[in-house]
Amino acid sequence: MDPPISHARPTRFSDRAALRAAVEAWRRQGESVVLVPTMGALHAGHLALVAHAKAIGRRAVVSIFVNPTQFGPSEDFARYPRDVAADLDRLAETGADAAWTPEIDTMYPPDFSTRIEVAGLTEGLCGAVRPGHFAGVATVVTKLLNQVRPDIALFGEKDFQQLQVIRRAVRDLDLGVEIRGVPTIREADGLALSSRNRYLDAAERAVAPRLHAVLARIAAALRAGAAAGPLLAEGVAELTAAGFGPVQYLEVRDAETLAPLERVEGPARVLAAAYLGRTRLIDNVAV
Ligand code: PAJ
Repeated sequence: MDPPISHARPTRFSDRAALRAAVEAWRRQGESVVLVPTMGALHAGHLALVAHAKAIGRRAVVSIFVNPTQFGPSEDFARYPRDVAADLDRLAETGADAAWTPEIDTMYPPDFSTRIEVAGLTEGLCGAVRPGHFAGVATVVTKLLNQVRPDIALFGEKDFQQLQVIRRAVRDLDLGVEIRGVPTIREADGLALSSRNRYLDAAERAVAPRLHAVLARIAAALRAGAAAGPLLAEGVAELTAAGFGPVQYLEVRDAETLAPLERVEGPARVLAAAYLGRTRLIDNVAV
């Protein structure tokens, strides 16, 4: 039997010039660089992105920054889990080469004045219930891409609207990086892995997989030719009866433009956001 592969922790950078020098040295040697942006509290979903990065590129850089500008005033920024030491240990298993852990002042000096707004794509779904969220995401991701200058950046399909918003911003602004999506990693019972799952108590955790079950059933019915309206109404009723509430949205959208659909012909996605107690869960599946 082969011995288990063990890696060192990634090199941690909190200084932008040092990070840039390391990335540029790799570049000069012809090594490709893949960036995985995260907010830490790393779980197997994040680690799958890093494993994918190492599979498609020579060097993987993981950024860890809990970005204040993407949290609303009543959201969980203050209590968002932070444990960089544990994250670096977890990253050692993946062979990540560098962790970019900027300080808040590096990202947002006191007179920071610029914001990137992606119109249209951000108007519905999470954008409708989290005003300013995607401007915060697009702005910080643009900064991370400019700081690291990777060849490729990876994002999870778990945050499907985020992935499309970033693709659009990168295209619109000629950021010159390839954006790739990675399928959602789930628990055995279907629950999508999320840093926020740790907020769930035991009773909520038992109910949580219903979200994915409802999405999967709706996707199967749409594939068989059913109309969206009645399926979505039934889905909301089922989630509410199971203990979710409020269900912020349950919708069928075109997979690229995110335009609402009543019947599915091309690539589409069923997407939902719902509270379970104090915890907001999101998920989506391909049709
Ligand atoms: P975070 O929630 O930490 O997620 C980092 C990346 O991991 C995102 O691309 C997200 O889609 C992906 N991810 C999360 N859960 C996943 C799962 N179960 N399976 C596969 N991928 C998963 O998303 C953010 O951070 C931030 O908005 C960020 C892009 C870093 C900007 O601040």
